[in-house]
Order: sequence, then C-alpha cells, then structure tokens
Amino acid sequence: MKLTDQKIRAIKWENDFLYLLDQRLLPNQEVYVQFTSSRNVADAIRDMVVRGAPAIGITAAYAVVLSAQSHRDLPNWREAVLDDIEILQNSRPTAVNLAWALTRMRKRLLAEMTDPVNDLLQEAQTIHQEDVTANYHMAKAGAAFLVPGSRVLTHCNTGALATGGYGTALGVIRRAWEKGKLERVYADETRPWLQGSRLTAWELQQEGIPTTLICEGAAASLMRQQRVDWVIVGADRIVANGDVANKIGTYSLAVLARQHGVKFMVVAPNSTVDMTIGKGSDIPIEFRSAEELIKIGEIQVGVTNIDAWNPAFDITPSELIDCIVTETAVIECPNRERMRATFR
Ligand code: MRU
Repeated sequence: MKLTDQKIRAIKWENDFLYLLDQRLLPNQEVYVQFTSSRNVADAIRDMVVRGAPAIGITAAYAVVLSAQSHRDLPNWREAVLDDIEILQNSRPTAVNLAWALTRMRKRLLAEMTDPVNDLLQEAQTIHQEDVTANYHMAKAGAAFLVPGSRVLTHCNTGALATGGYGTALGVIRRAWEKGKLERVYADETRPWLQGSRLTAWELQQEGIPTTLICEGAAASLMRQQRVDWVIVGADRIVANGDVANKIGTYSLAVLARQHGVKFMVVAPNSTVDMTIGKGSDIPIEFRSAEELIKIGEIQVGVTNIDAWNPAFDITPSELIDCIVTETAVIECPNRERMRATFR
C-alpha cells in the first residue's frame, strides 16, 4: 500500500515543503500547516502539532531535508544540518522512533551523496513508506489473534494520524473490522490531550466502526462487566526485557486486564524496539507542563497555581503483556530471552 493512497495523511511532502495536519485542532478543524524550517518542525513536535511515535520519527526525517535545503549553500552545511538534527532529537524524549529516524538520516547525510537534498528526501520518503508497509503487516498479524465478535479497548491514538498511515494498534482494529471479527471498540478519552476522544474517535467514525467512548476511569467497570476481550495499544519504546513505554494510563489498563482475564496486545514497528535499554525503568519519560492538566485547549478548568504531576508516558512491565506484534515478529509472553532471540 502506497503512502499517497492513504485516506488520512498526517504528514505530506509537497512542492519542496513539509505539511503537517495540525492535530491540536482536530476534529473541529482540518488545517495543514506548511513548514520550511527544521527548527519550526522541532517546535511543532514538542507542541503536539504532530504526535505518535512513528509519525514524529517520519516528521523529523523530513525536517532534516528542510535543514539541508536551507543550508545547502553554506561551506559547512553538513555541520549546520547536524546541529538541527540535535535540536530535533531533543524535541520529545520517550518515543525512540525519533532517534531511530534521525540516526538513519545522519548516516545518509555523512555518506557519499550525488544530490544531497534529493538523496535525503529519498531516505525520508523511504522511512515514511516503510512505516506504512509495516502497519499493514502488523495489522494482519495482530488481527489473527482475534475471533469473530471481539470487543476491543484501545488507548490514546495509534492510527493513521500517529503513523505514516493506517496505524499500529488501530491498524489491527481496522483489519479485524474488515475481516468481520470486531463487534465494538471502546476508545479511552486519554487525558490530558484527549487523543482518544478527538483523534481515535474521529478516525473510527470515518470507517463506520462501532465505537464507544469512555473516560479512563470507566475501564475497570467495563472489564468487570466482561465487555472487553482485548486491550490493544501502541508503544513509544519497547526495551530488551519486553517492558513497554506508552501513553500514560496504559499501565493501569494492563493491571486491570490481568485482574479481569482480558488479553493485552502491544502493536509497534521494529523502529520502536530499543535493545540498548535493559529495562523499562531506564526509559526516559517525558514530563509535560502543569498547564495541560489545568486547561482543556485554551479554557481554564482547574485552579491555577497548583502543583501538578504530568508524565506523558508510563511503563507496562512485560509480565502483563500477552503479545507484542511487530511487522516481522509476534512475541507471546515477552521476556528478555524471547526479545533477544527475536531482535538480536
Ligand atoms: O503523546 P503522544 O500523543 O505522542 O503519545 C502517543 C502514544 O502514546 C501512542 O500510543 C504511541 O506513540 C504509539 S502511536 C502508533
């Protein structure tokens, strides 16, 4: 499946510039923002114009092309691009896809090139296309676990908006729906950015997939009433012992799922796997501002001047995960040995 065939495109490269669908405005407005400078892209990643682990990696790859485009006439243009890569790298710390994509771009930058801007663009487009292809492979492998009539709970947004197209966990859900295996999706609202109610619900509605929105606090009751068969989520980083970093609230779902006999699946491309980190507690977790908890959009809903704890991600230990699905492997009951055997 080609990236240009995707119905929802969060990231576009057109006429020498990068366009991002501003995800902060969805579902009320569909606005593409044009980017001409790599530094503005780094700000956009930090400010959540684009979000989702694979999507920020792809975006950063295109930002390197913008950097090369603006510096190409300088004698030390490669150093200028390396400086921009450093800034991009620091825009969000938890999703390893960002560092992974930038490592690929840096390697291309430092290799022999005939037409630097074009060569870097080709690399960025390859990263983008590979992600789309990976999503379709994961969707097939993940949906194979589901039986007809399955009810799935998902968290955050892992769809076309969070990836090159189609999605990771949401790709599995899409495929299960296409194959007649899905009865209903429960979408967690996902505080504080509301990726569930604004983005996942928007994507699922466009497919006509039966969806029920819940707030995170409702998940326990839903599972206790035996209304969920699978929790299916994405990941921002999967480390060597099979622990997974994902959107804050994922860990609570995994604990609840185990308590209620609900299966728990993590779906992510190989670019999310980081075998250099031994265990989940060593994953850098992004902390965001207190303001995000006090306001919804621009509207202040909580008291001001309050201390707030706002980690964007949490760690789900591997023992709570029934399977990890990537484009090349399915790891059931993940642990250090199984991870090592798969991702040498
Ligand atoms: O803060 P976000 O919206 O970037 O967090 C996104 C998630 O946690 C997703 O579950 C994860 O990146 C996987 S997206 C395919």
